[in-house]
Amino acid sequence: MSTYSAVKKITTNTLLKMKTDGSKIAMITAYDFSFARLFDQAGIDVILVGDSASNVMAGHETTLPLTLDQMIYHAQSVVRGVQRSLVVIDMPFGTYQSNSDIAVASAIRIMKETGGHSLKLEGGREVLDSIKKVVDAGIPVMGHLGLTPQSIYKFGTYTVRAKEEAEAQKLREDALLLQEAGCFAIVLEKIPASLAKEVSESLHIPTIGIGAGVHCDGQVLVMHDMLGINTEFKPRFLRQYLNLHEQITGAVQQYVSDVKAKDFPNEAESY
Ligand code: KIV
Repeated sequence: MSTYSAVKKITTNTLLKMKTDGSKIAMITAYDFSFARLFDQAGIDVILVGDSASNVMAGHETTLPLTLDQMIYHAQSVVRGVQRSLVVIDMPFGTYQSNSDIAVASAIRIMKETGGHSLKLEGGREVLDSIKKVVDAGIPVMGHLGLTPQSIYKFGTYTVRAKEEAEAQKLREDALLLQEAGCFAIVLEKIPASLAKEVSESLHIPTIGIGAGVHCDGQVLVMHDMLGINTEFKPRFLRQYLNLHEQITGAVQQYVSDVKAKDFPNEAESY
């Protein structure tokens, strides 16, 4: 058990201290009250209300369709379930890229209406003005570099980013810019482990990896992937801790068969 399991409320300062102490940060996504409460009680440090809600909750192919209102609904539900974890909320596509005034207005709306603790924005220098203004408004911001799914149509593919030196160099510079702009942490998604190690060592703020190797200061996984609710999505970086797809299918098949056989409800289950 780490010293940090005794911390009553995780804040952005706790995460900075964890990096200094070499204590790894565990982050997972959640989109509703029940799972958020489970993860919070299980000792997760950070809960991300990810815009992956667009994929795993709404069934869209990309994260782009998710609206600000939908994100606020998910985040409100998550916040109600959380007592200890730091809640980070993704700013949806289109709510911060076009100009920094729109970014601040969207950010303030999310913070006011959800009670969440911080926001995450994708991108480096392209969105730096928005990040600076949101930070200046007193809102903690987590950055996100590497594979940034809101830019999927620019990338054209979900393969590993920054394998070429030019993109790796841009990522190194962007990480420093985000740190200077006041981000309290940065997600590094699907980049070579050696680059993630270099970037993590060059920053005083923590990095949280997903497909970025063990040298990041923390790790994040999408709950549906790590719990095996999605079985089609099996990237190399994913460790599946449960096979809920199989377990839930089995349980529901059993229920169907019990109902059809008039085995459920029995006398003890009746009034
Ligand atoms: O939306 C999300 O789930 C994310 C994680 C993959 C980091 O941004």
